[in-house]
Amino acid sequence: MNISIVGSGYVGLVTGACFAELGNKVSCVDNDSKKIKGLAKGIIPIYEPGLKELILSNAKKKRIKFTSSIKEAVGASEVIFIAVGTPSLDNGEADLMGIENVARNIAINMQGYRLIVEKSTVPVETGQWVKHTIHSYIKHNIKFDVASNPEFLREGQAINDFMHPDRIVIGVESKKAKDILTSLYKPLNAPMVVTDINSAELIKHASNSFLAAKISFINAVARICDKVGADVVEVAQGMGLDKRIGRAFLNAGIGYGGSCFPKDLDAFIHISEKLGYDFSLLKAARGINQQQKAFFLNKIKDVLWIIKDKTIGVLGLAFKPNTDDIRSAPSLEIIKALQDEGAKIKIYDPQAQDKGKEVLSNVKFSKDAYALSRGCDCLIIMTEWDEFKELDLAKIKKLLKRPIIIDGRNIYEPRQMQKLGFHYVGIGRGRDSKK
Ligand code: UDX
Repeated sequence: MNISIVGSGYVGLVTGACFAELGNKVSCVDNDSKKIKGLAKGIIPIYEPGLKELILSNAKKKRIKFTSSIKEAVGASEVIFIAVGTPSLDNGEADLMGIENVARNIAINMQGYRLIVEKSTVPVETGQWVKHTIHSYIKHNIKFDVASNPEFLREGQAINDFMHPDRIVIGVESKKAKDILTSLYKPLNAPMVVTDINSAELIKHASNSFLAAKISFINAVARICDKVGADVVEVAQGMGLDKRIGRAFLNAGIGYGGSCFPKDLDAFIHISEKLGYDFSLLKAARGINQQQKAFFLNKIKDVLWIIKDKTIGVLGLAFKPNTDDIRSAPSLEIIKALQDEGAKIKIYDPQAQDKGKEVLSNVKFSKDAYALSRGCDCLIIMTEWDEFKELDLAKIKKLLKRPIIIDGRNIYEPRQMQKLGFHYVGIGRGRDSKK
């Protein structure tokens, strides 16, 4: 099929590359002409394992191209995916200006039947607004359909998530739209949930909010573990073996970040309020996530006592491993709070240092974890990169001024660390020992 994807951000590029890989002809559109020029030369603006290779090989086969002309893309494609950003406004509401703008541009450039599919995460009833907008701006009596097809991919494993999804959700209002989307996704051979448009939009917000609430739940349990000397990792294991609960997303830590959970929770709380429902459960999940950072800071203070003039080595900046994304990363807030108290900050992250340099000041970046450790009063772990799990800890211990590791991602075993002679503090791993 001839497909256009409007918006060449995370979701747009991964979706475009994967649809091309499945044999479709894809036009990726973005109004950032610098980004489009770069993409045409093979410069991929984000780090996502496997994405560059997929784009380059499909560009070679002429199955993917990049343009800043929405007119050209709409003219050439029967199916148009909208994958533009839906950032948060100050009140938490999703900003749908980008979606409205694309809908208008599709309407004025449409020459024949088009299926317009929302891929971006949007509040319930956005599809109805997109339909209304296209109707208002369309020039001739051209038929079209609007559909919702939310994307569930996770950064760092986006290609695998796209190619092997747990389910594909399609919200449609006509058989034609259903048939087009079903045949587009047929090669993936995944379970398909076909609903109305409002339900599909709700599936996305409800899924992300549920996962965020699951993380906040285990973070709250971790607080209790610390008070009574229990181990949250064992608690999560014991809970997770119950098939109704599942072990995934029960890792206690410094809280969730990234471009989706914080924003989607805000938007879901806001749209619920607008519809006359106070979603207090989600407000509590959001509050726990916020408190988790203060809780971690207190752990650092409990060990170091005075923060001023201490050199703190930060292992990891990215909001999670295998990405260079630092949007709403808990690490940023924690670093700024430590700087406010007078700490000297050194940082090492395998991928996110360049992005970190854009937003952090008065920090030193190191070339690896060993260079980072030299002369630090303690290390704090903010991201669970695999390479941190394989460090030569005896060497790290020698390089540190004091053998202290405060682990916001629970990547080490407390007993093992104690044996190695570290003062090791995790999240919910038992009562923290005081020095
Ligand atoms: C999320 C959803 O998983 C995905 O389906 C949706 O399409 C986009 O939002 P993403 O933001 O890429 O994906 O990352 P995810 O792996 O879900 O992690 C989100 C945050 O939760 C990270 O900060 C991560 O560190 C944190 N997290 C995750 C935990 O703190 N504990 C866990 O057990 C799992």
